[in-house]
Amino acid sequence: MFKRKENEGGVTETAVMAALANVIEPELHRDLVSLNMIRNLKIEGSDVTFTIMLTTPACPLKGKMEADSRAALAGVPGIGQISINWDANVPADRRIKDQLGQSFRNTIAVSSGKGGVGKSTVAVNLAIALAQTGASVGLLDADILGPNVPMMMGVEQMPPPRNRKMVPAENFGVKFISMAFLVKPDQPLIWRGPMLHSAISQLLSDVEWGELDYLIIDLPPGTSDAQLTLAQVLPLSGTIVVTQPMQVAASDALRGLKMFEKLDVPILGVVENMSGEFFGTGAGEKLASDYDTDYLGSVPMDANVRLGGDNGKPIVVAYPDSAAAAALQDVAQKVAARISVLTLNKSTNFIPIEMIG
Ligand SMILES: Nc1ncnc2c1ncn2[C@@H]1O[C@H](COP(=O)(O)OP(=O)(O)OP(=O)(O)O)[C@@H](O)[C@H]1O
Ligand SMILES: [Mg+2]
Repeated sequence: MFKRKENEGGVTETAVMAALANVIEPELHRDLVSLNMIRNLKIEGSDVTFTIMLTTPACPLKGKMEADSRAALAGVPGIGQISINWDANVPADRRIKDQLGQSFRNTIAVSSGKGGVGKSTVAVNLAIALAQTGASVGLLDADILGPNVPMMMGVEQMPPPRNRKMVPAENFGVKFISMAFLVKPDQPLIWRGPMLHSAISQLLSDVEWGELDYLIIDLPPGTSDAQLTLAQVLPLSGTIVVTQPMQVAASDALRGLKMFEKLDVPILGVVENMSGEFFGTGAGEKLASDYDTDYLGSVPMDANVRLGGDNGKPIVVAYPDSAAAAALQDVAQKVAARISVLTLNKSTNFIPIEMIG
């Protein structure tokens, strides 16, 4: 694959690639060379430059991969400066394109059996945190009857349609769409199953989403029609379950989790939200371990989280250095990593990653 270019007694491509073949991608458990993650290798004299092509720009283990690569290359005789660049190509869940015709590489629902636990808050901050890493991200407010996303994202109107398609609103690097854009705030929505079904399908299909690495979906509370509808109209790459830290809340979350399991949707993990003195802590971790899924972390109760939602400036934007924002950024990285592993394991070719679109 790489042309053997001997370099006057200096460093050779063969030696560099042989060294990098000993570096293991920590999530995928294979070496960087057989995963085809080493690109644009250039050798000038004793100096080496290359790009590591990640499966998500939100990769949590870049630091480890860099350190391991440098350590492996230190063993190459005569090696000089090592420069590592980063790029990412998010693998695509092909079912989405096949079924919906939209170029979403992955779809991630944020769910819970219970209302008011912070699904929308987590969905909004997760979407922004992924976009902050450089991913292209969309956010679908699938809470047709109680849409909150536009207020939390600080945008109350969507742009005019183009080519008879809706154009999503955009803020903080995230494209989003919501029923709130289409109904007056004081207009009650009393809808039945089939109408919910068509509303959700339209917000997916009749929108110029463009190419997205991740579509995040904010679900309504409960285990109702909306969840079933979504699983029918859109293949879900996975769902994350939000719970409050008390045991009673976790039992509702467990109901939600079981429903997704019945629908054959992979559970990406559990986020505990609003932990701290008031509600305590621990139910999220217990739920994850009882259910044998990942514990994605706990987001502390913090008035700035609520204010961020009310004021349209979510915590990862307003206070990116706060503990709550750090927890949400960490959730984003863990989710992105899990999605990569799931999507790659599903496809028959490990990598090269297929481009969609
Ligand atoms: N970690 C937190 N600290 C403080 N307040 C929070 C936190 N997480 C969420 N909130 C606040 O709690 C309220 C409910 O959150 P949110 O709307 O995200 O929940 P939800 O599960 O989407 O609710 P619903 O079931 O109605 O859709 C909001 O006012 C939000 O700002
Ligand atoms: Mg909500």
